This record gives sequence, structure tokens and C-alpha cells, in this order.
Amino acid sequence: MATMMRAARYVQHGGPEVISVDQIPVPEPAKGQVLVEMVAASVAPLDWKMRAGLLQQHFTLSFPKTPGRDGAGRVVACGPGISRLAPGDRVAVMAPPAGQAGTHAEFVLADADLVVPLPDELDFDAAAALVNAGLSAWIAVMRTAQVRSGQRVLVQSGAGAVGGLIVQMCAHLGAEVTATCRAANADYVRGLGAAHVIAYDGPASADVPPQDVVFDLMGGAVHDACYAMLTPGGHLVWLTAATITDRSTEFGVRVTRAMITDDADVVSEVMSLAARGVLRAQIADILPLDQAAEAQRRLAAGEVTRGRLILRT
Ligand SMILES: NC(=O)c1ccc[n+]([C@@H]2O[C@H](COP(=O)([O-])OP(=O)(O)OC[C@H]3O[C@@H](n4cnc5c(N)ncnc54)[C@H](OP(=O)(O)O)[C@@H]3O)[C@@H](O)[C@H]2O)c1
Repeated sequence: MATMMRAARYVQHGGPEVISVDQIPVPEPAKGQVLVEMVAASVAPLDWKMRAGLLQQHFTLSFPKTPGRDGAGRVVACGPGISRLAPGDRVAVMAPPAGQAGTHAEFVLADADLVVPLPDELDFDAAAALVNAGLSAWIAVMRTAQVRSGQRVLVQSGAGAVGGLIVQMCAHLGAEVTATCRAANADYVRGLGAAHVIAYDGPASADVPPQDVVFDLMGGAVHDACYAMLTPGGHLVWLTAATITDRSTEFGVRVTRAMITDDADVVSEVMSLAARGVLRAQIADILPLDQAAEAQRRLAAGEVTRGRLILRT
């Protein structure tokens, strides 16, 4: 087996140029750990926000930091005491956000409890696009909002990685889904299951009926505009890195933050829904690992649309 690997890393906060792809030793799994050879990893907003130093009040990083929260690959070695997984298994992995080891590398050491076997129907790129985005969408829709058939649901950012999966899940549950996106993505978002689309770069939409649930994935002015879209007693569910001003009492609605924590059972359920064709992975583009810095630059610049950027390792 290889003793050295390529890994994207940075040793200080800053712009994308602080990322380099270095040769470092392949780590060995300790008790409870699995060594996974990555095939595909996703690049998420958290990766660039963390690198830029915007999340220092939430996470204290140890440098050098390898970015990457999730991905998919093959188990190559298991630490002592692991019988559930074996070398060769195709798996999805989650890496803790603040740990030094991320998935933008050829190998990652993962906590065995956060390694999920992949269904045969899913390829590595699709799986990588679904891990953290699917986890976030599932928790927001199923656990926090508990969306039901017949409800009116509005998704702010229906063309994004998480928003697109929320659209798909809510439509599958039988909700009447409205989603926001740029005008050029209207047909794409309808294809995900939205019955109605509001173009945020188009003319103001006057006739949006009151919604039972609004998902805010944007924060700021978009969050503020969500309150007036809700029916009395409606539910505003938010998941953004920025803090919000809670105006629930003023508008007579509920406001809840979807608490996203790594959960292998949820990821397993998401993979199973995708394997059955209920969910479609959304892949914006695929870049080689050597372009880890460029991938983060594109994401931070708002150049990524229609799902996740994937790094092929
Ligand atoms: N742990 C957590 O709490 C957690 C977990 C996951 C995600 N999040 C947060 O959830 C948010 C979305 O994550 P993501 O991974 O889905 O991001 P993403 O894929 O990068 O989302 C980008 C999308 O935002 C859309 N957008 C930009 N401006 C918009 C506007 N004014 N109105 C509506 N849509 C707009 C764009 O739509 P167009 O392409 O149509 O322009 C783009 O597709 C981020 O803020 C992220 O930090 C939080």
C-alpha cells in the first residue's frame, strides 16, 4: 500500500491561495478508525468559510488543516475491533469539521461510526454529492420541519446543493413546493419537483400564497423576507452560517434552526433513497484534487450552481 499521499492543506487562514496540495504520510488507523482511500469528495460552503477564517467563533482549527467534510471511497484498512467494515468496502465518509484530517486528500482516517456502506446503485461522485448535503436536507425536512403531504413549502435557494435536495424530499412527501433560484435555473428546479419557481433575479412575485413551512438557506435579507411569506403559526426553518434576527413573536410564527450533526443512520437513509431513485444527486462540476484551491475560489465567488462541486482524488 502507498506510504505517501497527496492532501490539500493550509497552515493559516486567508484566500484560496493559502491552499497547497502536499505529499504527506498515509496515516494508520487506530482503535475505532478506518482508513479510506478517497475517490470523490465534495466542496461545501463550510470549507471556504472555515479557510477564510469566518467561522472562528464556532471552530478552532489545528494547522495544517486539510479541508473536506465528506466524500466516498474504499476501505483499505481497519483499526482494531472493527468487524462491520472490511478492506474493499465502498463507503461514504464524514470527517469532523474542525479536525486536521479532511476528505480533500487521497486517504482519510475516519471514525468507523461515521462510515456508511454504499448501495451498489450509487457511484462515488453521486455519493460524495449526497453525504453532507443529504444529511442537512434530511434533518431540516424530516426532523425539524416534519413536512407532511399537502403542506405548502417554500425553499430559499432551490438550485443549491442542500436546497435542491430539500425540494426533492418535500415533493416526494407530497408537499406543494415553491423554490427560489436565478431565472436561468427555473426549469432545472422544476425538474427537481418544485411546482412553482420564483426567480430572485427576476421581477418581484406578488402572488405567493401563505406557506406552512419556509426553509431559509441564505440568511440576511432573504431571511428577513421569509416571515411575511408564512401563514400564521407557520414554521421558518433556517440553516445558515450567519446568525439571524428572530422575529417569530412579531409575525406569530415558529422559527427553528435545523441542528445538523453527523449521523450515519441519516446518511444511510439518504443513500438508500438515492439508490431507489427517490433522490437525485446534484453535481455542479468535477475537478481534480490538484484544483482544490480553485474549487474553493469558485464556490466563494458564487460561480457554482446546481449542486455540489466534486473533487476527484
Ligand atoms: N451545519 C449547518 O448548519 C449547515 C449544513 C449545510 C449547509 N448549511 C448552509 O446552508 C446554506 C446552503 O448550503 P449549500 O451547500 O446548499 O450551498 P450552495 O450549494 O453553495 O448554494 C448555492 C446556491 O445559492 C443560491 N442563491 C444565491 N443567492 C440566492 C438568493 N438570493 N436567493 C435564492 N437562492 C440563492 C444559488 O442559486 P442559483 O444557482 O440559482 O443562483 C446557488 O445555487 C449555506 O449557507 C450553508 O452554510 C449549513
